[in-house]
Amino acid sequence: MTTTKLLFTPGPLTTSAAVKAAMLRDAGSRDRDFLQTVREIRERLVALGGAASPNHAGEYECVLMQGSGTFAIESVISSAIPREGKLLVLVNGAYGRRIAQMARVHGIETETVEAPENHKISPEAVAERFAASRGITHAAVIHCETTTGIVNPIEEIGAVVERAGAVYIVDAMSSFGAIPLDLAAARIDFLISSANKCIEGVPGFGFVLARRGRLLEAKGRARTLSLDLHAQWAGFVSDGQFRFTPPTHALLAFHQALLELEAEGGVAGRSARYRANHTALMSGMAELGFDAYLAPEDHSFIITAFRYPEHSRFLFEEFNARLSQLGFIIYPGKLTAEPCFRIGTIGRLSPPDIEALLAAMRRVLGEMGVAPGVRAALERGSLDSMARRTTIGAGNPDKH
Ligand SMILES: Cc1ncc(COP(=O)(O)O)c(C=O)c1O
Repeated sequence: MTTTKLLFTPGPLTTSAAVKAAMLRDAGSRDRDFLQTVREIRERLVALGGAASPNHAGEYECVLMQGSGTFAIESVISSAIPREGKLLVLVNGAYGRRIAQMARVHGIETETVEAPENHKISPEAVAERFAASRGITHAAVIHCETTTGIVNPIEEIGAVVERAGAVYIVDAMSSFGAIPLDLAAARIDFLISSANKCIEGVPGFGFVLARRGRLLEAKGRARTLSLDLHAQWAGFVSDGQFRFTPPTHALLAFHQALLELEAEGGVAGRSARYRANHTALMSGMAELGFDAYLAPEDHSFIITAFRYPEHSRFLFEEFNARLSQLGFIIYPGKLTAEPCFRIGTIGRLSPPDIEALLAAMRRVLGEMGVAPGVRAALERGSLDSMARRTTIGAGNPDKH
């Protein structure tokens, strides 16, 4: 028997019962009702990007792409950039590095502007690169770099990219649906996200919100058959269908997830819940003595990286496995610089779930004999108050 666990990860995420239940029927991929669902999903996604208003009617299109989020990014990178094009990738974490890597796999001339993982990409550095380097046709950046949770200033960077006359690609995988975003105001040509992030669907496909004109330019540029973004779009326009077998169940679940997003008050309502999750997490983790990797002003409410405590008994693998046994899934780190683990605050979670996770951590740390705050307290000379705070676990009948 498998038990349901709560996912405090960057995705796949915890989903609602109704989202899971929406998958309990089969749908014909060419059936009228299913095609209506697909059409509605595409329209709702364009509206979420702020591009359904009369000012922007018809300016942006939504292309759904089978596979995980990376497939959707690769469909943009391998379809949008012409043979003689050059891509500038703005890198401050693993997902930026991945875009540079995929461009190189496709033989695309690529440059990077790199920032440390705990720094935002600076629009000035991007402008300097455009001034110093010839021939850049496209620029790509990650909105929320899920490696750390840092949020890059995509609006300011968009203005720089537009001034340079380049095409702007934004990976908003872990932010779309939770951090308010206006495609046109940020000058975005291609935005990519996926079903199993902040819209709270299940994995199975990603989506691209693209300017219509940029999609038309992409005709004939694709370097692969299955990830050809223009051809995929043309399929939706001509008969409303996916070119190849769609993840029907995931699409049914996603439609339900979009209704739930609307019922929660849209992006504003969702971000309020995620922000409350993050606030609860940060105060609880500070109580437990964990140290966040980013400076407080750089935190987002999406995901947070915490340093391993300097304690000889702390082994992340054990910590992780014990939490999993109690029904809580956290996430290993992806940082190059420091050993960290990550805790996501997105998905169908609310502050009581965060409190339950914190209680489980307290218990597990107690069982492992780790009191992560002790060292910091010694340094601050406040062992007495620490002793009160770190009576962690040991027989504590936490409910999870
Ligand atoms: C910012 C960002 N880009 C890309 C990806 C890759 O998405 P996937 O794992 O669905 O391929 C992720 C996954 O978390 C992400 O957070």
